[in-house]
Amino acid sequence: MIEVLDGLKDVIACETKISRIELVDGKAILEYRGYDIRDLAKNSCYEEVAYLLLYGELPKKYELQDFRIELAERRELPPQIIGLLTHLPQYTHPMVVLRTSISYLGSLDRLKDLKTREENLEKSKNLIAKIPTIIAYYHRIRIGKNLIPPTLELSHSANFLYMLNGLEPSRIAEKALDADLILHAEHELNASTFAARIAASTLADMYACVVAATGTLMGPLHGGAAQEVMKMLREVATPRRAEEYVKKKLEKGEKLMGFGHRIYKSIIDPRSEILRDLAIELAKKGNPIWFEISEAIAENAYKYKKLLPNVDFYSASVYANLGIPDDLFVNMFAMGRISGWLAHIIEQYESNKLIRPRAKYVGETERVYVPIENR
Ligand code: ACO
Repeated sequence: MIEVLDGLKDVIACETKISRIELVDGKAILEYRGYDIRDLAKNSCYEEVAYLLLYGELPKKYELQDFRIELAERRELPPQIIGLLTHLPQYTHPMVVLRTSISYLGSLDRLKDLKTREENLEKSKNLIAKIPTIIAYYHRIRIGKNLIPPTLELSHSANFLYMLNGLEPSRIAEKALDADLILHAEHELNASTFAARIAASTLADMYACVVAATGTLMGPLHGGAAQEVMKMLREVATPRRAEEYVKKKLEKGEKLMGFGHRIYKSIIDPRSEILRDLAIELAKKGNPIWFEISEAIAENAYKYKKLLPNVDFYSASVYANLGIPDDLFVNMFAMGRISGWLAHIIEQYESNKLIRPRAKYVGETERVYVPIENR
């Protein structure tokens, strides 16, 4: 008897040293390379976490400084990519643009098939550095504004907001985006990371693996949920309407975006707790309405179906208060998750075994072929 584990639920598909998720005594532990994400979100910066994920250790001061410079120097895009961003139809979703641009970056890299550790890290730094520029440049192009070249002076997060809006962000906005990217950076064998590892297990090049991950992240049951959450917040429009909205949606058997998780069922996603705190902080300085609607929805989602928010839920009000357009929300997720994807791709290359599960056949068997003129 072959047992089919629907959706590979609870299947342990590989060993990893990158992140640990464990549910203990009604609480979820989430660690990157052994460090609690609460500590990282509070005390670290995105560059440091990307370094930790790629190299396995927290950097020393000079190592972080060098890594920051290396990333900053790689931010600018080759002219071919800027040409691509200019020529893609302006209605193209920014995630499609990102996926296509990563694929194009791969075609420009003559060493794309080289997989030494050094070369893998080189490609990783390039991708981490260039993804924010691709997102910001495409956005500026589609709204008809001039491109704002990256600056060496600003951090990863601050430079992104600068390239997007043309203004240096406040320290609060920079810290909030840093924390958000850290919280999105890694999450074990989520669907997009698994897709990346499957591609890596065939020894496909790094760009191909990241394209597979990017395509997988876009779906509304995964990273695509963030944009759907914002759509819901706009539809609800006021906290007073939240109860009716949630009730109706659940009565119709529809899913509430930003709720539920394959691993965190009756235990809260620890990332959503930290993002909620961030959303509160930003709401105090900016527009509180998105957070207020979110709270009313969360209260009713729990009341009517014991549903708990996931990482995508409070990200929406965080991004809205950072002035990020709704259709860039999934790109923000990718901008954070890229370092986790890359760490997993490298881990897969370095301990590779082709990932190739089996399927249980449930169709018809032993049928007799009928010539086309007789069907
Ligand atoms: N809204 C309403 N009901 C839900 C939701 C939701 N968001 N999530 C789970 N449920 C219900 C299901 O209807 C099902 O109920 P039933 O047993 O009465 O049929 C039960 O909870 C189990 O849900 P499944 O979808 O079977 O759980 P699974 O582990 O397969 O799916 C998933 C997890 C896909 C994340 C799901 O919760 C969902 O679709 N959520 C909404 C989309 C979303 O927010 N995705 C982002 C996830 S986080 C991330 O990827 C970064």
